Amino acid sequence: MSQEWIPIHNTWRTDKPSEPPPTRLVDTYGRVVKNIRISVTDRCNFRCVYCMPEEMAFLDRSEVLTFEEITRIVGIVARMGVDKVRLTGGEPTVRRELPKLVRAIADMDGIDDLALTTNGVRLPELAKPLRDAGLQRLNVSLDSLDPATFAKLTRRDMLDEVLAGIDAALDAGFTPLKVNAVAMPDVVNELIAFAELARAKPIIVRFIEFMPLDGDGIWQRDQLLTREEIVSRIDAVYPLEPVDQRGSSPAERFRFKDGKGEIGVIASVTEPFCESCDRIRLTADGKIRTCLFSVTETDIMSPMRDGADDDQIAWMIADAVHHKERGHLINHVDFLKPQRNMSQIGG
Ligand code: GTP
Ligand code: 5AD
Ligand code: SF4
Repeated sequence: MSQEWIPIHNTWRTDKPSEPPPTRLVDTYGRVVKNIRISVTDRCNFRCVYCMPEEMAFLDRSEVLTFEEITRIVGIVARMGVDKVRLTGGEPTVRRELPKLVRAIADMDGIDDLALTTNGVRLPELAKPLRDAGLQRLNVSLDSLDPATFAKLTRRDMLDEVLAGIDAALDAGFTPLKVNAVAMPDVVNELIAFAELARAKPIIVRFIEFMPLDGDGIWQRDQLLTREEIVSRIDAVYPLEPVDQRGSSPAERFRFKDGKGEIGVIASVTEPFCESCDRIRLTADGKIRTCLFSVTETDIMSPMRDGADDDQIAWMIADAVHHKERGHLINHVDFLKPQRNMSQIGG
């Protein structure tokens, strides 16, 4: 699919850089990038309403980074201090031979945390191979516990398959397992059922405020189920207390006061956490995005395919990070919705 309308930075200079690339990726606000989220495909076997339209044109295979290219980029950013990698999609498990990529990244120097975010459908067959390949952490999306609401939100009638995937992940040793629920208005009556899931199993349920990255323009501020409402509704039934140690994580943590488990809230809209942001993104078609809401990108796939060496690629990434956005502008009159929807960015 053509993406020409996205302004692309192309800072590739064919002359050799005179200095070696930096050993740390620091932006103009002093934030240090430690975390890369890599989209391994823009394809998905769901069509979640908050993420993409029903009809979607996907990238041609030739436009998607190969495993070798992804691994090379991970090596380059690892030498600049990145130590966390999260694989995303689209749906990452629809990419063929994913455990091979996991194995290659897990074996690399400098990567301490290798994780994956999935819709869970393919976990019954993949949870164990992914674990054996060296995957350390798994987050599974589950937006409703009611089959009809689940089907409405994902446009697929596959709740049972996802629940089986969650059990397979727990069996494979991915504990505690994080389960992500985008807090759509439809699930307001399920908050307690989700809290009970977090109390019954080694699962941390994280409620995510819906961000304006859907494909159909359905996001409306006045319909947002907010952090405040989520926490107060659950706290009224199962009292909660905050857990410190958030660090650079998007999720604010709460434990049940009686000690039976934990939930999280990712309040990107009402309580942005951009000040502590330590991440960049790599799209399936090889563009660096320095913010989820970036309106420009840096193409590193084309220079790689045109023969750029590692130092040249490293400098392009360092330049992009130097210009990393201060934060998103969702709550600002100047907000511009990115041209890509969530499935094309990777979450
Ligand atoms: P952990 O490392 O397990 O805490 O994972 P994570 O929460 O960073 O990743 P996950 O893929 O589970 O994402 C959960 C939600 O957080 C998704 O809705 C993401 O879009 C959102 N998210 C992740 N990183 C960022 C970020 O940098 N900015 C914003 N605004 N949202 C983010
Ligand atoms: N707002 C918030 N979270 C979203 N996700 C996908 N689209 C959105 C959105 N518009 C979540 C998915 C998945 C993670 C990668 O991002 O549910 O858990
Ligand atoms: Fe980082 Fe952008 Fe997310 Fe803010 S919105 S935390 S700057 S990626």
